Amino acid sequence: MSEYSTFEEEEFYTSFDGRTFLRLLSLMKPHWPWVAGFLFCITSVSFIEAYLTFLGARLIDEAIIPGNLDALRSIMIQWAVLIVLLSAGVFGFIYLTGILGQRIRYDLRKRLFNHLQDLSFSYYDKTPVGWIMSRVTSDTMRMGNVLTWGLLDSTWGIMAIISGVIFMLAINWQLALVVILIVPLLWIVATEFRKRIIKYFRLARRTNSQITANYAEMIQGVRVIKAMAREEKTLGEFGVLTSRMYDASYRAAWWSALFLPAVQLITAFGIGAIAWYGGWQTTVGTMTIGGIQAFVGYVTMMMFPIQEMARVYAELQQAIASAERVFSLSDAVPDVQDRSGAAEVESIAGEIVFENVNFHYEPQKPVLKQFNLRVAPGETLAIVGPTGAGKSTIINLMCRFYEPTGGRILINGRDYTEISLHSIHSQLGIVLQTPHLFSGTIRDNLRYGRMDATNEEVIEAAKVTGVHVFIMALEEDYDSQVGEGGVLLSTGQKQLISLTRAVLADPEILIMDEATSSVDTLTESLIQRSMDTLMVDRTTFIIAHRLSTIKKADRIIVLNAGEIEEMGTHRELLKLKGHYYSLYTKQFRSEAAARESAAAEVSTQQPVPGR
Ligand SMILES: Nc1ncnc2c1ncn2[C@@H]1O[C@H](COP(=O)(O)OP(=O)(O)OP(=O)(O)O)[C@@H](O)[C@H]1O
Ligand SMILES: [Mg+2]
Repeated sequence: MSEYSTFEEEEFYTSFDGRTFLRLLSLMKPHWPWVAGFLFCITSVSFIEAYLTFLGARLIDEAIIPGNLDALRSIMIQWAVLIVLLSAGVFGFIYLTGILGQRIRYDLRKRLFNHLQDLSFSYYDKTPVGWIMSRVTSDTMRMGNVLTWGLLDSTWGIMAIISGVIFMLAINWQLALVVILIVPLLWIVATEFRKRIIKYFRLARRTNSQITANYAEMIQGVRVIKAMAREEKTLGEFGVLTSRMYDASYRAAWWSALFLPAVQLITAFGIGAIAWYGGWQTTVGTMTIGGIQAFVGYVTMMMFPIQEMARVYAELQQAIASAERVFSLSDAVPDVQDRSGAAEVESIAGEIVFENVNFHYEPQKPVLKQFNLRVAPGETLAIVGPTGAGKSTIINLMCRFYEPTGGRILINGRDYTEISLHSIHSQLGIVLQTPHLFSGTIRDNLRYGRMDATNEEVIEAAKVTGVHVFIMALEEDYDSQVGEGGVLLSTGQKQLISLTRAVLADPEILIMDEATSSVDTLTESLIQRSMDTLMVDRTTFIIAHRLSTIKKADRIIVLNAGEIEEMGTHRELLKLKGHYYSLYTKQFRSEAAARESAAAEVSTQQPVPGR
């Protein structure tokens, strides 16, 4: 977590990136009618506001000073009408902003969600889940906010300044030119101050989290610190951090305190100019009292929007950094995707051939080199071998979660990259090493691979894997909730449900990677028996560490460091007296030895009769 926040804070200082900014703006394109309505409302509101100030001037000059009641009435009527319009406009743009923000965030999240499903496993290998989550949640939020509330504040500000300037120029252009000078001044002060304030606040916050982390580490490691006599060194490091924190906080406070007086000073300069030049002009007769009043109004009206815009500008820089990260996610091209003209095929039953397949997850670490394997239609192939041998990798390639980096995989004589991913995946039944369930009921999870399965079919499949008894023992049997990711179930139970899911899907190719590794041996052997009928005439890949479960496979390959060391049936391999033999006898022996020693323990603990 802390790693990511530091990462984000540093990125804040990257300079303004125009291309990303334009791309950020383009997110509003599909909603242009709302944007147009919003801009219309905001422009109207700003001009009405500026005109109201002008009307105030006329009220003084034309009605109050000369005592003209007709003028008073007509101005008051205009005033009332404009106030109603103004309120309608304000309602309009706030309402539109709310809707627009919702739509933009929805669009972004939907787009990312779809994209995340398309991305290949290799992307997830390289990218931490936490990173992706922050992109989908906080970054999209920030982008949506800046595109709506940020846009609102800044357009309102800009329009307020523009309309104010127009009216000032109309009243007295010389004075207007002097007063307008304070706009850039205010802007510079506001942005510069904000930059410094944010910088020191962030520094203080970051140092604070380092101090917290230091505390935690110190408390956890206090024995080591003492034992190694490192107290002084630790204290020294702590001192550096606290003084850095003090310094940053002090500077943040200094710049924050200075900000408002600076703004007031500049505004005072503007008002001073109005009083001095305007006052002088009234004596000459080129300026009215109402005019001076209006000028003061315009200057105060500008002060706030400029500060707001400086804030929005800071937020915009952050939003651009967010957008950059979100776009990097949405631009990531899946490594595995359909080739143009990929064929939809009804069936992928048939011979499967791995032809000189090379594969690596990381370029410097090849997992498979010139790997060849031919699996006959309907064959049950078992893969055994030590951890890290590449068993799951073969399955990953078979499922086309990854594609070979060299060589080909042929299904029915056809390179599988010429077949659509959908055709392949819809005919595969996969039980992965780490079972995953989705929150919902057991029934939903079982049906995941075949949504149209009837209740009877669901139950039948559950009986094959033996999970039916367990499910019926639950309070709400098939309608029991499994919790998020299946947390309410044990790993073994999750495996059984994933297995049932694959059985129910009735796929042409069944793939089981340690499908029952967390299930007790008794249950496993029961499953084994019913699965045997299921595997007849169905191409099946089984990976298992417990060799008893694969004895009946048509063929067993022993894999080591990505290479096939031995291949044959259980009997053939035993006869070879090679790796398989030693693996098997070792397992068998340890099981037998366990049985023997258990039997021995039981017999020694038996009470001697007659005592
Ligand atoms: N996503 C990945 N990214 C990088 N390297 C990986 C990845 N998955 C596996 N590897 C590496 O590839 C090699 C083969 O791994 P694989 O998962 O195929 O082994 P396995 O035979 O299934 O082992 P196990 O019996 O432990 O499941 C290992 O060296 C492993 O470190
Ligand atoms: Mg594995």
